[in-house]
Amino acid sequence: MVAQQAAAAFITGLLAFAILANCNTEGDILYAQRMAWQDPKNVLKSWDPTFDNPCPWEHVTCDNENYVIRMDLGKAGIIGPLVPQLGELKKLQYLELFGNGLNGSIPTTLGNLSNLVNFDLQENMLTGTIPASLGSISTLVNLRLYGNKLTGPIPPSLGNLTNLVTMDLQKNALSGSIPASLGNIETLRSLNLNGNVLTGMVPSEIVSLASVRNLSLNVENNNLTGTVTSAGLRGANEHVTCRLSRLVLWLGLALAALF
Ligand SMILES: *[C@@H]1O[C@H](CO)[C@@H](O)[C@H](O)[C@H]1NC(C)=O
Ligand SMILES: *[C@@H]1O[C@H](CO)[C@@H](O)[C@H](O)[C@H]1NC(C)=O
Ligand SMILES: *[C@@H]1O[C@H](CO)[C@@H](O)[C@H](O)[C@H]1NC(C)=O
Ligand SMILES: *[C@@H]1O[C@H](CO)[C@@H](O)[C@H](O)[C@H]1NC(C)=O
Ligand SMILES: *[C@@H]1O[C@H](CO)[C@@H](O)[C@H](O)[C@H]1NC(C)=O
Repeated sequence: MVAQQAAAAFITGLLAFAILANCNTEGDILYAQRMAWQDPKNVLKSWDPTFDNPCPWEHVTCDNENYVIRMDLGKAGIIGPLVPQLGELKKLQYLELFGNGLNGSIPTTLGNLSNLVNFDLQENMLTGTIPASLGSISTLVNLRLYGNKLTGPIPPSLGNLTNLVTMDLQKNALSGSIPASLGNIETLRSLNLNGNVLTGMVPSEIVSLASVRNLSLNVENNNLTGTVTSAGLRGANEHVTCRLSRLVLWLGLALAALF
């Protein structure tokens, strides 16, 4: 009995120590990211791993429980990959890393950022595919990946982002067809897919979103083909036939003008 109690006390102590020793998880994640980056402008010099937490560091914002809610490193001159551990910043709302020299692929673990609102990785040198896991970030409002070197298809799972307002994927090398599931995003106001190598037709679900919800849709400079039929338009011009390779649809404006 006594031996068992002593063992239990010892294990409890060990656990407590392990938890205390691991109390700067968010700082450890950011420090791992700092180590993976080249930082020629020395913007990360305040990211000192001996601090109790990363909240005093520059370009980082925390909530009142010391969880990181923002990373603001737009146009900071940083070069290198995103580390998979970034997906563990569970309260992160703003990931602002636009206009740097980020390379490598977008880690699938970023789909675990379940509080993310702004995902701004535009104008970097990212390669690889858009992870399907990003479709599980239900809080996402703005997804900006334009101006990278992303390849492969647009994941149909992005249609699960039912709070999304902006999706900007232009100027990459995305291929395949435009997923009809994007037509599920009733909140969407701007969909920019121009400057890729997308093929097939613009799904009628998306055309209808454009006419009913005032979505601004840009699919110029792709390899799209075919005829768009817009169920959302009334009157004689039920069929909108377009040369989709040179198409900018402002159907919302057109509809507003009709009424
Ligand atoms: C990212 O860029 C750096 C600096 O040019 C280079 O050393 C590194 O190999 C690149 N990584 C990838 C995955 O392209
Ligand atoms: C994070 O995402 C990856 C890949 O999507 C998954 O395998 C992993 O279980 C997730 N981790 C957590 C802590 O949710
Ligand atoms: C997300 O979308 C995909 C493809 O559209 C679907 O198969 C999947 O069940 C959806 N997941 C969730 C969690 O809604
Ligand atoms: C539709 O969107 C455009 C561009 O965002 C905006 O200028 C216009 O006022 C909107 N029209 C309506 C009817 O909401
Ligand atoms: C896109 O279309 C152009 C012109 O028709 C063609 O040369 C090119 O090979 C096509 N690209 C893809 C990826 O299909």
